[in-house]
Amino acid sequence: NSLPEPPTIHWHGVRVPNEMDGAPGHTQPPIEPGGEFRYEFTLRDSGTYWYHPHFNSSAQVGRGLYGPIVVEDPNEPEGLGDELVLVLSDLGLQENGELLPADTGGKFGDLFGREGGVLLVNGKIEPTLKVRAGKQQRWRVINAARARYYNLRLRDHRFIRLGGDSGLAARSEDVYGVLVTPGERTDVVFTPASEPGTRTMLRWMPTDRGYGSMFNRPSENMLAIETVDLPPVAPLPIPTELREIRRVDTSTAVHHDMALTIQLANNDVIMGINGVPDWRAEALQVRVGETHVWRVVNDTDFAHPFHLHGYFFQVLDDARVPEWKDTVNVPAKSELSIAIEFDERPGMWMYHCHILDHADVGIMGHLQVLPARPPADEPSGVHSPSHTR
Ligand code: C2O
Ligand code: CU
Repeated sequence: NSLPEPPTIHWHGVRVPNEMDGAPGHTQPPIEPGGEFRYEFTLRDSGTYWYHPHFNSSAQVGRGLYGPIVVEDPNEPEGLGDELVLVLSDLGLQENGELLPADTGGKFGDLFGREGGVLLVNGKIEPTLKVRAGKQQRWRVINAARARYYNLRLRDHRFIRLGGDSGLAARSEDVYGVLVTPGERTDVVFTPASEPGTRTMLRWMPTDRGYGSMFNRPSENMLAIETVDLPPVAPLPIPTELREIRRVDTSTAVHHDMALTIQLANNDVIMGINGVPDWRAEALQVRVGETHVWRVVNDTDFAHPFHLHGYFFQVLDDARVPEWKDTVNVPAKSELSIAIEFDERPGMWMYHCHILDHADVGIMGHLQVLPARPPADEPSGVHSPSHTR
């Protein structure tokens, strides 16, 4: 760590061993200035992931400390386009160009989530992407912002969504815009269709993420797209069936309700899960071998992107194309259910809202995954070292 403050690194979405999860208080202490920590793990799942600090994270991520990880899938269909990673974020700057303090806006900033006024694509303001008409690109879009939702639109274009957090979904889907909420990833095919020699603009559109988030907000420029002056090429057909996604069997699942809550009291904002902020919460205990269904209820006035460490889940909603996820948006005044298989890697994990300002004021829970119960025919604790069969 050559920073003046301690971070950790969390490998968002990657199924790492528990001790590599980068969660202070659960798996490791923060890495002091001048100190070091060796992260060592195997990448087991294809998909688009990212890494970011998990200590003082709203401030550190808000200042740009993060990076992408792409794990390619050797079995995926060919011809999904030229690959491009788009890391989306924003920065809060003062008039003089200096960074705004991490707690700008006080309690209101905590409540609303701090969106920076300067939009960045791969760390740049309004960069230019050169494309050739008809030549498909596959965009792996990562939302690394501390609070901002990204809804991308390009005039006269649609996109084909391929999947997201953990690689391809079961089927491709034709979509009008690309919505990616904090922490999430979206994988889309973009087919340039503008006249050669023209310039268009990929725009950020305001999205309803709750109270006042749509009010009086213009759209903004994100990425200039320049169609080079070359004859168009014929776009390739994108397959509909992309990957076999096994459905989680929930017939014997353990059920839990997780209410995302906000309490406003004495000029303070306290968020929590079932009314309890993380600093007062006891760990939810689960066991390796169990399948869970968590009903995530959001009765608040804000949307919250719900993220689970260590395990993928499936959203139980027949209207969605099946896919493996680690972060899902729960719009204001709505609920959804997710199915999780705690199949391995016992240890202390966590789950939280990925609006990092919200996580800071309490929407975060601890999860203790206990080792599997010993098989019934082997009474526990009476193993003799000389036991033979
Ligand atoms: Cu990307 Cu606990 O976070
Ligand atoms: Cu939130």
